[in-house]
Amino acid sequence: MKPVRKAVFPVAGLGTRFLPATKAFAKEMLPIVDRPLIQYAVDEAREAGIEQMIFVTGRGKSALDDYFDIAYELETTMRARGKSLEPLAATRLPPGALASVRQQEPLGLGHAVWCARDFVGDEPFAVILPDDLMVGTPGCLRQMVDAYERVGGNIICVQEVPREKTASYGIVTPGALDGALTEVRGLVEKPRPEEAPSTLAVVGRYILQPEIMRVLDNPTTGAGGEIQLTDAMAAMIGTQPFHGLTVDAVRYDCGDKAGFITANIALALARDDIGPSVRAFLADLD
Ligand code: G1P
Repeated sequence: MKPVRKAVFPVAGLGTRFLPATKAFAKEMLPIVDRPLIQYAVDEAREAGIEQMIFVTGRGKSALDDYFDIAYELETTMRARGKSLEPLAATRLPPGALASVRQQEPLGLGHAVWCARDFVGDEPFAVILPDDLMVGTPGCLRQMVDAYERVGGNIICVQEVPREKTASYGIVTPGALDGALTEVRGLVEKPRPEEAPSTLAVVGRYILQPEIMRVLDNPTTGAGGEIQLTDAMAAMIGTQPFHGLTVDAVRYDCGDKAGFITANIALALARDDIGPSVRAFLADLD
């Protein structure tokens, strides 16, 4: 079984739900407390043993590449002022660990992943959607890699959602249960509640076999008129093992304003430095 060494980060989205904040910069740079969303995603990947980060970007997203580069002027000035460079440590990746490719048109998540095909090559790979902030110990992708090392094949992160929310997610037709693993018998993107095969939803973490790129070579248009990753995965079921893993982690949907604010509050409360003052403020609210 080949190890999972590469992760694809689809970060070409326009971030229209956060306008005007995202008019001139990448939504993945929005901070949860003092770290941008992309930092959490990259940290989770590194904890899971990922060596190669592949960003699928778009126009106006150069801040994402700059963020993981060396900021000479900033560092020189900080050093001259005797300031610690420790807050920048997490932004420093090993040389060559980050590659970027552009998705020229927003044709869907399946198309975004396919844009990374030559970087992925003939290896299993992870996909991380930074909007889905997953907080767990060990991290969400680490838990998935551990499961992958046991059963191989394709593994998607799954969580139960309220039935009225199925039209926001990929939804699983579940098969046999094996602890936290559910056999995936079918997948459908954004079904209406009355048509959803279950309420087990795909969350933004995937471990996929490279053959999915061959499915995406001949894409079909799916939900919302987009090339859906869910449809390509559905076409793989039956040819390779396919499991959903219910991870032990809390998900914050940071593509949504309420989820984004909730994540900020939850992670602020967990901090030793600002937690007490945020807690005191919340306690004073009616
Ligand atoms: C994407 C996927 C969907 C998945 C969701 C998780 O949808 O297409 O299958 O359930 O991410 O966040 P999006 O949120 O980009 O519409």
